[in-house]
Amino acid sequence: MKTEQISKSVYYIGVNDRTTHKFEAMWPLPFGVSYNSYLVRGSEKSAVIDGVELSHALEQVDEIKAILGDCVPDYLVINHMEPDHSGAVRILRQAFPDIKIVGNALTIGMVKGFYGIEDDTMTVADGDTLSLGDATLRFVLTPMVHWPETMMTVLEEERVLFAGDAFGCFGALNGAVVDADMETARYFPEMVRYYSNIVGKYGAFVQRAFARLKGTEVETICSTHGPVWREQAAKVMELYNSLSSYEPLDNGVTVVYGSMYGNTEAMAEAVAEGLAQAGVRDIAMHNVACSDLSFILADLFRHRGLVIAAPTYSDSIFPPVGQFMDAMALRGVKNRLIAVTGSHTWAPKATRMLADFAAMPGNELVAEALALKQAPTNELLEAARGMGRVLGERLTNC
Ligand SMILES: Cc1cc2nc3c(=O)[nH]c(=O)nc-3n(C[C@H](O)[C@H](O)[C@H](O)COP(=O)(O)O)c2cc1C
Ligand SMILES: [Fe+2]
Ligand SMILES: [Fe+2]
Repeated sequence: MKTEQISKSVYYIGVNDRTTHKFEAMWPLPFGVSYNSYLVRGSEKSAVIDGVELSHALEQVDEIKAILGDCVPDYLVINHMEPDHSGAVRILRQAFPDIKIVGNALTIGMVKGFYGIEDDTMTVADGDTLSLGDATLRFVLTPMVHWPETMMTVLEEERVLFAGDAFGCFGALNGAVVDADMETARYFPEMVRYYSNIVGKYGAFVQRAFARLKGTEVETICSTHGPVWREQAAKVMELYNSLSSYEPLDNGVTVVYGSMYGNTEAMAEAVAEGLAQAGVRDIAMHNVACSDLSFILADLFRHRGLVIAAPTYSDSIFPPVGQFMDAMALRGVKNRLIAVTGSHTWAPKATRMLADFAAMPGNELVAEALALKQAPTNELLEAARGMGRVLGERLTNC
C-alpha cells in the first residue's frame, strides 16, 4: 500500500504487485508491476481515477479512507476497463455506496458486462468536463490503447494527464512514486517490454491518441503502471512516439533462432560473427526455446536489425520460431532490415517461409535467404558470416 500526495490535489493511491509471475498470464514480471490509482481532491468533490487489481482492492479502500477521513469519494473515473484496474470496482462500490461511476458509453457497457453494475453511472463524451470545485477533469477519448473503451482524463488546473495504460511500464515502485525522486534507468527497458508485449499492435491508435492530445499542456503523466513522470515526461512521450510509429530505437540486431540439434544454431552464430565484424555492437541473441517471447519482442521493437533462423519441421517451420513470427506479424512491426537462414534435411520449407515472411511490405530482406541442408560446411558458415556483414554494413551506415 502506497499513498503520496503528488500535487496540490492529486494523491497516488496505487499498489505494488510483486507476487504475480506473469502479467495477463503471459508476460514475466521479474521486477513486479504497479497498479496505479489516483485520488483527485477538489475543493468540493473528489474522484478516484482508475482502480486496482481485485486482490488489492481492500488496500485501496484503506488508502482512500486515510486521505479523505470522514468524507467519501464522489466519483470513480474509469479510463480503462481491463481488470488490472477495474477489478476493484465492486469492492469500491460496497465501501462507498454513493460513488458514481464515470466512463464513456463503451466503458459503462463493460461495467455492466463484467460487474453487473448498472445504477449510478455517468456517461461522458469526448471533451466533456466534470467539476470538483477548484479542480476540473476533462475527458479525452483515445480508443484502442489497447482496448476499445480507453480514454484519458486531464486535470486542467494542474496539467496532469491520467493516461491509462499509455506511457506505462512494468516494474513495481520501489519507495518513491514520482520520477524526480528515483533512479529511473530500470524502468525504460521495462517500458519497451510493456509496450511491445501489450500495446504493440495498436501503434496507429497510440499515434491517434497523440493527435488528440495536441493542444493539451501536460506537465505530469500519471499512467496506470510505473512511475509518475514529471521531469522525464517529454522523454517518455518521445519513447512512446517512436515505439508507436514502429521506428527502431537503435541500429542493433535481434537474432532469433530455433535449433533442435545445433546445425541452425551454428548458422545463427556465424551470422552474429559477421554482424560483429561489420561493427555492430549491440547484438541480442535469443534461442526461442530458452528466451521468453516477452523479452524477444522488446528487442525486436528496439533494434533496426533482425535475423531469423529456423529448421524445417513437419513440412513447416520450427513451431517456436513460427510463434515469434506470428507475434511479430500480429504487431505489424515494420522498418526492419532482415536476414534469414533456414535448415532442412530433405525439403527447404523453413527457408522459403522465412524469405517470404521477411519480404512482406514494410520490412526489407537485405540478402538472399541462406538454405542449410543437413550439417553446415565451412563454405556455408562463411556465407552466413558474409550475410551478417551485409546486414551489419547496412546498419552501421544508417
Ligand atoms: C520432428 C522433426 C520434423 C522434421 N521435419 C522436416 C521436414 O518436414 N522437412 C525437412 O526437410 N526436414 C525436417 N526435419 C529435419 C530438420 O529440419 C533438419 O534436420 C534440420 O537441419 C535440423 O536443424 P537443427 O540441427 O538446427 O535442429 C525434421 C526434424 C524433426 C526432428
Ligand atoms: Fe490494459
Ligand atoms: Fe493495465
